[in-house]
Formats: sequence, C-alpha cells, structure tokens
Amino acid sequence: MSNQLYLLLIGIFVLITLNKSVHVSAQKYISLGKQKHRHDDMQQMEQPLSAIQIHKTVLALTKSASIHAVGPRILGSEGEDFEWVTINLRNANPTDEDWVGVFSPAKFNESICPPVTIDEQQFGAPFLCTAPLKFKYANYQNANYTATGRTSLKFRLINQRGDFSFAFFSGGVSNFVAFANPKAPLYPRLALGKSWDIMTVTWTSGYNIDEAVPFVEWGWKGQEQKRSPAGTLTFHRNNEDKVGEVKLLNNVMRPFIGTPARSVGWRNPGFIHTSFLKDLWPNMVYTYKLGHMLNNGSIVWSKQYSFKSAPFQGQESLQRIVIFGDMGKQERDGSNEYANYQPGSLMTTDTLIKDLDNIDAVFLIGDLPYANGYISQWDQFTAQVEPITSRVPFMIASGNHERTWENSGSLYTGIDSGGECGVPAETLYYVPAENRAKFWYAADYGMFHFCIGDTEHDWREGSEQYKFIEQCFASANRHKQPWLIFAAHRVLGYSSNDWYAKEGSFEEPMGREHLQKLWQKYKVDMAFFGHVHNYERVCPIYQNQCVNKETSHYSGVVNGTIHVVVGGGGSNLNRFTTINTTWSVFKDYDYGFVKLTAFDQSSLLFEYKKSKDGKVYDSFTISRDYKDVLACVHDGCEPTTLAS
Ligand SMILES: *[C@@H]1O[C@H](CO)[C@@H](O)[C@H](O)[C@H]1NC(C)=O
Ligand SMILES: *[C@@H]1O[C@H](CO)[C@@H](O)[C@H](O)[C@H]1NC(C)=O
Ligand SMILES: *[C@@H]1O[C@H](CO)[C@@H](O)[C@H](O)[C@H]1NC(C)=O
Ligand SMILES: *[C@@H]1O[C@H](CO)[C@@H](O)[C@H](O)[C@H]1NC(C)=O
Ligand SMILES: *[C@@H]1O[C@H](CO)[C@@H](O)[C@H](O)[C@H]1NC(C)=O
Ligand SMILES: [Fe+2]
Repeated sequence: MSNQLYLLLIGIFVLITLNKSVHVSAQKYISLGKQKHRHDDMQQMEQPLSAIQIHKTVLALTKSASIHAVGPRILGSEGEDFEWVTINLRNANPTDEDWVGVFSPAKFNESICPPVTIDEQQFGAPFLCTAPLKFKYANYQNANYTATGRTSLKFRLINQRGDFSFAFFSGGVSNFVAFANPKAPLYPRLALGKSWDIMTVTWTSGYNIDEAVPFVEWGWKGQEQKRSPAGTLTFHRNNEDKVGEVKLLNNVMRPFIGTPARSVGWRNPGFIHTSFLKDLWPNMVYTYKLGHMLNNGSIVWSKQYSFKSAPFQGQESLQRIVIFGDMGKQERDGSNEYANYQPGSLMTTDTLIKDLDNIDAVFLIGDLPYANGYISQWDQFTAQVEPITSRVPFMIASGNHERTWENSGSLYTGIDSGGECGVPAETLYYVPAENRAKFWYAADYGMFHFCIGDTEHDWREGSEQYKFIEQCFASANRHKQPWLIFAAHRVLGYSSNDWYAKEGSFEEPMGREHLQKLWQKYKVDMAFFGHVHNYERVCPIYQNQCVNKETSHYSGVVNGTIHVVVGGGGSNLNRFTTINTTWSVFKDYDYGFVKLTAFDQSSLLFEYKKSKDGKVYDSFTISRDYKDVLACVHDGCEPTTLAS
C-alpha cells in the first residue's frame, strides 16, 4: 500500500511516567489560580492521562517501535462527517503505560509552536505545542499487547478542519490521515432568534470570508428554496505576549484567553457562521443546507437538514421543552481526553436523539463540553450534539466551565474555564442576547416565556443583569404566555447538594436573597438550575417557606415558585447532604433531564426522565386559569385605588 511510504519517524517519546505526571501536573494546574475549589471538578480531572504535562514531554528516538494508520489516507470521501481509523502498533519493549495520542494538525511538535508566553515560562518551553485531541492506552483493545508488543487500536475521528496523526508514546508518529474536505461546513446548531419568527443557524467551517461566501439555502420542505446570507466570526490565540498587561487591566472587563486555552489547549476553531432565517411561518417544516460559494463560483454544500419553526408567540398548541445542565462530552471510541469526567453525556445525548420527534426545543443551562481550555473539545461537543442541534433550537446558558477565570470580569474567582473566558461559547453558539459576552436573554416559545440568567456575571440587585431579569419577567403577557420560566447555571434557589449544605446556604451565596422578590412579584412558575450534578425538586416556595402541601397536581393561585436543580446532564454526579430540608420534594442521584409539555394555556406537565432509559421518575401537573395568575397573593399585587 502506498501509504506505507508515509511511515515517518520511528521514535520513543519518553514521558514523565503517567502516575507521577498526574500528580505533579495537577498541582501545577491548580497553582495557576489561587482560589479554593468549591467542589471536586479538579479532582475529577485526575482520571488517567488527563493531566499529562505536554509541556514537559521529551523526545528520545528508538528504532524498536512503530505506529501506522491502516486504510485510506483520505477520510470521508463519501461525504461522511466522521470515520473510524485503525492504528497498528509494534513495540519491542512494550509497557502497560504506552499510549497513543491523536494529534491535529498532524504536525504537532515544537517546530510549529508559537513563541513562548509569559504564563508558559513557568512550565518551561513546550516540546509539543499542542495537546492530543484524545488518547488510548496501547493495551486498551488487547491486553496481550504488553506481552506481544503488537496490537491495533480503533479511533473515531470527526472532521474538524485539519489533518491527523497518531503518536505512540513510546514509538513515534504515524502516517497522516485527513478528511477529503477538512473545511467542509459542519455541525449546524439552531437557536431561537430575538423574535418567534426568526430561527438562527450557526455552523463551523474552514472557509474564511475571503475564500468563500457563506450562506444558507432554505425553504418549506419540498418547495422552492431561497438563500440567506451568513455572518462569520472566529477567535484567536490573542494577547500572547501581553499577559501581564492584560491582567493589570482587570477593570476593563475584557475577557482574554488564558492557559491552557491559549497554550497547549489551543486549536484553531475555524470559522463560525450564523444566518438569520426570517419571516418564518409558525409550525412549518423547513429544510436547509449550508453553502460556501468559492471565488470561482462553485459551491461547497453540507448535507440537508430540517427543523420545525416555532409557534406564534402565545399560540395554543402542543409545546415540548427539554431543560438540563452540565452535559459534557464523551468519546464513542472509548478514548480518553482532558477533563473527561462526564460519564453520562452520551447516554443523555442518545436518549434525547431517540425522542427528538417529541421535543420542540432544548435548553442546556451551562457547562457544555467542559473543554476547560482544550479548544478542540468544542468540536467534539458540537459534533456529539449535532443530531439534536440541527433539528431543534438549542438554547444555552453560560456556566463556570464556559466563563470563570481570574481577573477577567467573571463574578466568581476561579479557573474553571481553563482560560476560555466565555469566548468559545459565545462564538460557537448563538443566543438572542444584546451582548453575547453577557449571557442573559429572553426567549419565547409559544405559551412559554423564558428568562435565562448568567450566573457568571453579577445578578444582584442594582446590577445590569438584575434590571434585565425584571424587565424580562415583566414582558410576559401571562394570558398568552402563562408559563414563565427562569433558568441559570449555578443554583440561585435551593439545593440539598452536599457542598451547599456544608456552607449552610443550600444555594450559591446571595442568590435567592436578591432574586426571590422578582420571582415572587412576577409569579414565576419555575426556576431551573444546573451546576449541581443531580436532580432535585423543591415545593412551591415563598420567602423560604413551602406554600403548598400538594406535590403532584398543582392548581389555583400562583403563590410560590417551584425550584428545580437539573444538572445531571452527564457530568460526574454530586452527592446530597444527609440533612432533610423542609422544602425538598424529590431527589435523584442519577443522570437525567426535565421535559415540560404545555398542552394549552391552563395545563402543563412536568416530567423528570433518566438518561439511561428515558422513563419518567418524577412528575407533576399544573392546571389553572388566567385569574389564578392575576389573583393578589403576598406581594405580587398590583396597586389599587378607591377613586373611581
Ligand atoms: C519536528 O518536526 C520537524 C518538521 O516536521 C522535524 O524536522 C523535527 O525533527 C521534529 N522534531 C522533533 C523533536 O520531532
Ligand atoms: C491473548 O492471548 C491469549 C493467550 O495466548 C489468546 O488466547 C487470546 O486470543 C489473545 N487475545 C487477543 C485479543 O489476541
Ligand atoms: C473551483 O475551485 C475549487 C477549489 O479550488 C475546485 O475544486 C473546483 O473544481 C473549481 N470549480 C470550477 C467550476 O472551476
Ligand atoms: C397557595 O395556593 C394554594 C393553591 O391555591 C393553596 O392551597 C395554599 O393554601 C396557598 N398558600 C398560601 C400560604 O397562601
Ligand atoms: C431523610 O429522609 C429520608 C427519606 O425519607 C430518610 O430515609 C432519612 O433517614 C432522613 N434523614 C434524616 C437525617 O432524618
Ligand atoms: Fe458548573
């Protein structure tokens, strides 16, 4: 086979042995930020290989080992977005610690590294300037490897704008493989626009605007299709040599990308295109295709996709919304990767895909890939959720793993975003916010009105966000849009999670103290939170008191808000405290999501489903009339006068 010719370096990359490196590098990593860790995410990152010190990798050549990618060097020649690739390994001195990393771009060694940054100097110069996308132990598919020194591994590669090589630690670098068109338009994600009759579609490609003009061709299914333009965004590994300066400017609130996002975790994100499909008719099936018109007039097309447009604002029809947080990503080929601690992620994805005909929109309320600065994982994530996002609007909120970073304008101190500072999230996913760097927005879906908060920016009384939240609640016409929903990432309401119980707050400090007057005044039906990786439903609550003993069928006046923690989308589960609070109605230590079904303006079904089987494990209904929302309860009363 001709690709045998591409067998390149035969060598040994001698690593600091893995056990040691996990320990040392986790300490290093944590020392980057000085904050105390509220919970155990950092510890969770210490799964095998998650903390290899790529910076400290050194190269020592040997002739006794080889690695080779079998099969065609060109992948996706039939237009596939992903391909399985088999790797053959040989090693005269095999060990249990040998592993294979997938690198992209295929040339990944120090010769292509950018200049060393101030931050990086503390680690020593990198020998590999980019982290592997993912990796497997050599003995993963064949325990005999350690005896025989021979094995094969299978990797599932997604098309993400670059070529790939496989590096054998110890053993060398494979021949390169690449997709037929690495720049292909891929991974469309739909999101509701600023009004009900706009659908936005965002996708990723390798085409900048000087090479091709991006657009969407769309229309009613089976009818004439028209074209709409798309805008293009990207982001850079910026401020390389100005790190110190930028930190001094912390009052500017301008996020910058820190380490590892800017160093070994960096990978070119490609170009992100967004098109606004406008003047939609309600409840129609539309088909769409992504296109890039090259300078010579020929067009590179994506596959065809379809979606159903949103109902008219306030319209009565069957409307089904899924809400959950903290999803993460997971590799279908069993590979390991950095920050790989979301074991429920594929289960949630696959369960939602199976039921997609019965879902109209999805809200993922923060902590999307947990890329934590390893930018390639945003591609893994967008590819994983593509079957969902290409068919129904996928609305996100910002979590600590998207945004939080020291001295970057995030409300909490910490390094949870790995230096991303919200930049990948706000670029890769559209939200109908005035300013996508501040992730708060309103969204309408028929009889639902959603107010999505951003817990990584100040929400307290007097803040810009507080004003927005009040205005968002006030803008719901409860006759037409009776179902008023608040959602945000960290728990601003109630949670029996272990670490909140230890703090004695049962919430993120200061959350409900500031927001409950708004929930109460505007009679918000439900408030959803993630961040805590489990499920918990709270009674209808007013001033920290349950106001209704009912637990399965609510009716009559709206005198309390039902709080729900639904952070079991995939990330490592979090334990509950053993303390039983008066307000907790239902707890579940498992992966799952919530589905809301509005049948009309007076009846709503709430269901909590487990990711493992899609079955309902907790539910309740709300039945009520408009007069029940208008009724004067507590402080939710309109002023009246005796004058007539
Ligand atoms: C890095 O890559 C360059 C170009 O492919 C090659 O010449 C050089 O030997 C490589 N260095 C190491 C340490 O592998
Ligand atoms: C591993 O070795 C055992 C014993 O030699 C053999 O029976 C088995 O088939 C081998 N497994 C693989 C995957 O090669
Ligand atoms: C236009 O350019 C692309 C990329 O260079 C090429 O593949 C394609 O065949 C060209 N089309 C025409 C009509 O020349
Ligand atoms: C709240 O409303 C429910 C339903 O109408 C009612 O049963 C309950 O007594 C009310 N609670 C308070 C404290 O007013
Ligand atoms: C809390 O409630 C659960 C379920 O009713 C019960 O099994 C448990 O013993 C209670 N714990 C305490 C500390 O009262
Ligand atoms: Fe979180």
